[in-house]
Amino acid sequence: MSTDRKTIIAGNWKMHKTHEEAAELASAVVKGVEGKSDLPEVVLCPPFTALAAVVDATRGSSVKVGAQNMDYRNEGAFTGEISPVMLSKMGVTHVILGHSERRQFFGETNSTVNLKLKAALEHGLVPIVCVGESLDERESGLTDSVVRRQVAAALEDLTEADIETLVIAYEPVWAIGTGKTCEATEANRVAESIRSTVNDFFATEAGSKSKIGETIPILYGGSVKASNVDEQLELPHIDGSLVGGASLSAPDFLPIIEGGSRRVKLTPSAS
Ligand code: PGA
Repeated sequence: MSTDRKTIIAGNWKMHKTHEEAAELASAVVKGVEGKSDLPEVVLCPPFTALAAVVDATRGSSVKVGAQNMDYRNEGAFTGEISPVMLSKMGVTHVILGHSERRQFFGETNSTVNLKLKAALEHGLVPIVCVGESLDERESGLTDSVVRRQVAAALEDLTEADIETLVIAYEPVWAIGTGKTCEATEANRVAESIRSTVNDFFATEAGSKSKIGETIPILYGGSVKASNVDEQLELPHIDGSLVGGASLSAPDFLPIIEGGSRRVKLTPSAS
């Protein structure tokens, strides 16, 4: 098992929870991890309207707060958008970028993901960039090429030094919210291929190799639950989980965090 990459358990609440419900759930998560050792990094990603409440509810704890999307510009006449400045000023530390639902329903493209990734890094937000193939793409044998293209496009114009905080989530679209989990060994294989894509991206024309891909935490997402998290996290290339449905209640989410703790315990530098 790999050693020095952080273990991260992130909850993507999608369009669920009013600010009051969100504060309640965040407090329950904070209470559930309080005083525990070997904790993974826990990140809660509520809707924009609940970010302030969740920042308040997690203040003073180790639990971090992430947004589910953002614009790449700082301000301007962009009705309905939220900027990285607004997020970082309010205590948000992470941001999910390029989630498949954004790509599928809201016109997110590889090039907007790249613009947003650069903006997040500029503003000190930890980006969680999502990549993954659709069912059609998987069935046509295109998984690796699609994922490689998404990763390389996200990294366009960036240097190795820029991406020190980058987190990538491998989320096969067909496994999201469907109850169908990608076989852990297959998710691990794709995660490994993501690492080599990042290394290849930064290899120089002069032939010098890059190893930056080995340092990037790669999460698996797609129907993660307490009953399958261990088999995923015991594999060498899966460093954590991006959890949708099972992050919406403390009794479902806390056991997944415990799965993260078991990985941290096995690899003490991975906290
Ligand atoms: P799911 O969602 O756990 O409900 O499949 C994961 C995600 O979309 O991040």
